[in-house]
Amino acid sequence: MNYTEKNIKEVIRYITELHNNEIDVAPFDLIKDSQIQLVLNEIECKIKMMNCKIDVLDYGAGNLRLLNAIEQSSFIKSKVEYMATDIVRPVVDNNLFNYTDVSNLHNIHIKSFDIIVLMNVLHELEILEIADSIENIRRLLKDDGVFLLVDMSILPKAENKSLPFYSYELKKLFYKVDDFSYKSKRGIPIVALKILKKDIPVFIEETRILENIISIKRDYYCSMACLINYKKVEEKLVDMSLGFNSIHDFTYLMFISGFANYKIVRFNEIINKIKFELCSTSIEIVKLFFDTYHNEKRIITVNDIFDQVHYKFDYLNITYALNELTAIGSFFFPLKEDHIGESELIASEHLDLLEDYGVNIINDLGFYQALRKCTEYYR
Ligand SMILES: C[S@@+](CC[C@H](N)C(=O)[O-])C[C@H]1O[C@@H](n2cnc3c(N)ncnc32)[C@H](O)[C@@H]1O
Repeated sequence: MNYTEKNIKEVIRYITELHNNEIDVAPFDLIKDSQIQLVLNEIECKIKMMNCKIDVLDYGAGNLRLLNAIEQSSFIKSKVEYMATDIVRPVVDNNLFNYTDVSNLHNIHIKSFDIIVLMNVLHELEILEIADSIENIRRLLKDDGVFLLVDMSILPKAENKSLPFYSYELKKLFYKVDDFSYKSKRGIPIVALKILKKDIPVFIEETRILENIISIKRDYYCSMACLINYKKVEEKLVDMSLGFNSIHDFTYLMFISGFANYKIVRFNEIINKIKFELCSTSIEIVKLFFDTYHNEKRIITVNDIFDQVHYKFDYLNITYALNELTAIGSFFFPLKEDHIGESELIASEHLDLLEDYGVNIINDLGFYQALRKCTEYYR
């Protein structure tokens, strides 16, 4: 192997960037690149299809380059109501743009946007933040709304803790996607997915799938690093748009594997912490479940649960409360099914049997006692 000075410099650059831990946010003026062009195209198609003004949310807006690009096109500008959200307010010369902090999104009306763009954000997020963002997006999209997920699969500048994904990984998060992923002129694989609202799932599976994707990535990258000089690994690296500089690839694989592990460790730490806080969320959901059955004679859907309790509890609490509930009884089990069908019938029979107890059973007996009683009754 030939370790040229250039190769070594590249590795040192990579490690130094990681160590300095600077997050790279593209500048306001960067609007001619392929990502922005792709998003503008989709916005223009949607305007033409709707034949009216549309609402666009720029999720993780950074330096507002999407807003800048929209303002440069007189046709799109006149047809778009733009809003930015982020965890920090963007700093630009004029403050004339709609902005709301991510922590304030629960105050925005559900079904408010025709297009939500999540561009170069996902790789920065932790597992629960990804699930939380996707759930926010699902809730805020109109029924015929479109989610545009754009990101880089390899980061040109290294970022500590960042974990980029390929489109084949992210596709697993949705029921169906339109995949426009491509390679940029610089040879960087760009994820570009278009997802309809109905194809965005809610519920605990999202975090489980993510954990699974990330642990597979961790193990796979780690084994590739250990076998770096094998022919098969070299071929695989080329498929991944790496493979130009073996010592750099080795460093890259080891770090990415480490960051993947970090995300899994963080995820488990948080889960263990929130397990103690579940009771009040569970009680609220159970009440909703029984009230809906009692008043409307139907099993409430998971989407309805999220829409009705999201302003009180965060995504994580809701998903874990649901996970706990669906593990318990025949009543909640239908919430887990993609195609409810038969299990909803069984649950409704059980609930009919419980009519005598009424909704107040939970208030009267407390959550766990009430569930036990219901289960005994059914037996
Ligand atoms: C690399 S920048 C991308 C900015 C812009 N979308 C673009 O493509 O130029 C990532 C942005 O995501 C934001 N971000 C980080 N965590 C976030 C979260 N949990 N929710 C929303 N935005 C977040 C960061 O503050 C940053 O502005």
